[in-house]
This record gives sequence, C-alpha cells and structure tokens, in this order.
Amino acid sequence: MHTVRAIYPGTFDPLTNGHLDLIARGAKIVDELIVAILRNSDKGQPLFTVEERLEMIAEAVAPMPNVSVMTFNGLLVDFAREQNARAVLRGIRAISDYEYEFQMAMMNRKLDPQIETLFMMPAEQYTYVSSRLIKGVFRLGGDVTALVPPLVMDRLRNKSE
Ligand code: PNS
Repeated sequence: MHTVRAIYPGTFDPLTNGHLDLIARGAKIVDELIVAILRNSDKGQPLFTVEERLEMIAEAVAPMPNVSVMTFNGLLVDFAREQNARAVLRGIRAISDYEYEFQMAMMNRKLDPQIETLFMMPAEQYTYVSSRLIKGVFRLGGDVTALVPPLVMDRLRNKSE
C-alpha cells in the first residue's frame, strides 16, 4: 500500500467556503492533501499577502489532520514532484471553469505525465463563489459572511478599517 498525496494549488486571495468545501472533500479521498499557495501569481495586486493567506488557511484546516499548507514558486508540477505528490486537485464550479481547467490539466500532463489532475465539484451553494467576487462585493459593502470562513471575515473587516 502506498500513500496518495495530492496538491490543491491556488491563489486563495482569500480562502472561501467553496475552497474549504473542496479541501474537506479532497481530504476524504486522498491520504494527504497539501494546500499550495502560488507566490509569484500574475493576477495583479493581491488583497492579502501570501503570509496572511498562509495563516488563514492553516487556521481553517487545523481540524483536518491530513491537510497541510505550503507556498510554492514556479511550475506546479515541479512543486508536486518535490513533494512526492501524485495528483493535483482542482475544483470545477460551472462549465465556464472547464476550458481553463482543461488547458491547465493538459499542460501539466505534458510537463509531467506522472501527475494526474483530479477534479471535484464543491457543494452546490458555493458554485458561484470566487475570491474575485468576494473581494469585489465586500469592497462595495455587500455581506459575504455566509461565503467565507469566520476567520477570513474578521481579516476582511480588519483590512477595511
Ligand atoms: O487560484 P487559481 O488562480 O485558479 O490557481 C491557479 C494556479 C495557481 C493553480 C496556476 O496558476 C498554477 O499552477 N500556476 C503555477 C505555474 C504553472 O505551473 N503553470 C503551468 C500550468 S498551466
């Protein structure tokens, strides 16, 4: 028997209940799950620093003993190999996610055919939730309390003070 270790990569700016739902689902399927925050993201100015995101995720996954959190730079497949991970976990919310996810999965397969991408669907109440929308709605004064973990909500409020 060998251990199945998977990487759940992303920007997580910030962690949402959709991410957390997927982490919980993934943690039931694989032996060890590493949530991996991309350091050199090209998504522009983030709201939270990588260190803040690391702290928030570490706190949120603390009740899940087979989940850990790390950061990475460069290619995901290189990081996965370094960690002896055989799989990458990604969430698919709607058809609109498919094209981007398909391209990434195929590119990652080209770069390293040993690493498989696993797709899971979050709970249906989170299918429209994204970090980008959370930030946008919160900035405009909308209530996102039900869509992010309470510890993320606290940090969002602190940011806006
Ligand atoms: O939260 P996101 O933006 O959907 O996550 C995207 C992420 C971090 C998974 C992706 O950008 C990534 O893996 N970047 C690392 C660089 C890389 O490996 N690129 C080649 C795969 S297309």
